[in-house]
Amino acid sequence: MNYSLYRADSMKLIRDPKKRHELLLSEKSSNGIKVIPSQSRYKYDPMPPLVIENNKFKIEEVLLDELVRSENQFPTPLYVYSKRRLIENYLTFEHAFSSAFSKYGMNVIINYACKANSNPTILRILLELGANIDAVTVEEVKHCMACGYEPNQIFYTGVSNSKEDINWLLENGVQINFDAIEDLKKINKINLEHLRTGSFRVIPNISAGHHHKTHTGHEGSKFGVPYSQIVEAYAHLVDLGVKKFGIHCHIGSGSLEVEPFIATVNAMMEILTKLKKELGIEVSYIDFGGGFGVPYRLENEPINLKEVAESSAKIIHNRLKELGYKTLPEIHYEPGRYIVCDASVILTRVNTIKRSGDTNYALVDASMATLIRPAMYDSYHHILSEKSANSNITEKEEYCVAGRVCESGDVLNKRIMLPKLSEGDILIITNAGAYGYQMALATYNGIGLPAQVMISEKSIYPISNPLVTQEIYGLSRAYNYMKLFNE
Ligand code: LLP
Repeated sequence: MNYSLYRADSMKLIRDPKKRHELLLSEKSSNGIKVIPSQSRYKYDPMPPLVIENNKFKIEEVLLDELVRSENQFPTPLYVYSKRRLIENYLTFEHAFSSAFSKYGMNVIINYACKANSNPTILRILLELGANIDAVTVEEVKHCMACGYEPNQIFYTGVSNSKEDINWLLENGVQINFDAIEDLKKINKINLEHLRTGSFRVIPNISAGHHHKTHTGHEGSKFGVPYSQIVEAYAHLVDLGVKKFGIHCHIGSGSLEVEPFIATVNAMMEILTKLKKELGIEVSYIDFGGGFGVPYRLENEPINLKEVAESSAKIIHNRLKELGYKTLPEIHYEPGRYIVCDASVILTRVNTIKRSGDTNYALVDASMATLIRPAMYDSYHHILSEKSANSNITEKEEYCVAGRVCESGDVLNKRIMLPKLSEGDILIITNAGAYGYQMALATYNGIGLPAQVMISEKSIYPISNPLVTQEIYGLSRAYNYMKLFNE
């Protein structure tokens, strides 16, 4: 198999979002990309990016058989992405927010949360679409720079920052949303001149997410400046001579409800009111983070982005006018999951079907090492069999789909009805694009990392090599293993 790094083809970069939309919308019919009104994205069966044609699953114009059953088949488990779906998601998000805020003369900037998926091809496609980056480690910043992002397109919101991290970021012109007042003390004097816009991640005391482990905006959270210390934090920036300010919050990840996002806007407006009244500060950007959920279950309703965007724009505009803002701030969002989640599925092969007690196990070659979310958050990922596309097969059985890692918790879906399975069948794990590959375990049980491919219309592009066991064990064998025994 020839794995070469695919470089995004030359979609022309147009910086003005209005022009970009016009062009993309007008060209849409030719390449099949559409901006989907966010509220009409619901109850998909099959879930995106799958389509059914002649009783077979396809992604864009490629039959799944072609990926895993042809002469040139890829090894399973395999992450498969749809370029079209990725672009649709980005445009849908951007369209919802840009159109709502532009009515009030406000600009929206999208900083893609690269933690959700940092594949260079994905980063490159999003760059071409005009995305900036939300990064949380210096390693992510360097990776994004290597993929073509300029330092001024990267916004850093890391927690537990070292002195080295902070000074490196300032020296390299990356905007920081500081996590703590303590971070300011780490700035080398010489770098104070690089601190042009002072910004903190603050705790708005509002939290939301699909699981308590993904909540971040509550009192006592490890992320950001506690509510009661926010004014003090900005007073420190003023003391350091800072003249321009930003503010950031992120309440958590994976909420499908509108309400927490609106509550956050209201809380942030209270904070901005205090900063204006007590310190005379006006901010030049407000970053509301990410957190927009996607439907993982067929019955889930999608989040109504239009409502979030329109209500937020109205509240912000009205309050800032009341406060007498001279210039309205830029509005930043940091979606991760929304952009990549349903652009990808995992294809996995059934190794064994066996019954244990009351449970009918379908044991597959994917595992918690491929997708850790079910084991870590009890997350639901809808699973289909390749036979699910065949409308002539109606008889179904209940299976527990489990992986090959030596942990009882390695279950990918506890209970799912599927057409009767046989060894060698291919299963499709949906909604795998966000926090899937990026959180994969490479070393445990020596499993390594799966390959990834991206589909664009009829073409299949390998976008990462699999990392195989020999390489992983080889990393440690290369050192003192033999030497110790020979002494
Ligand atoms: N901004 C900040 C500062 C964040 O910490 C995050 C996510 C995001 C933006 C993007 O959130 P999103 O739009 O993707 O919800 N591993 C978990 C999710 C952890 C999210 C961490 N931070 C999962 O698999 O559900």
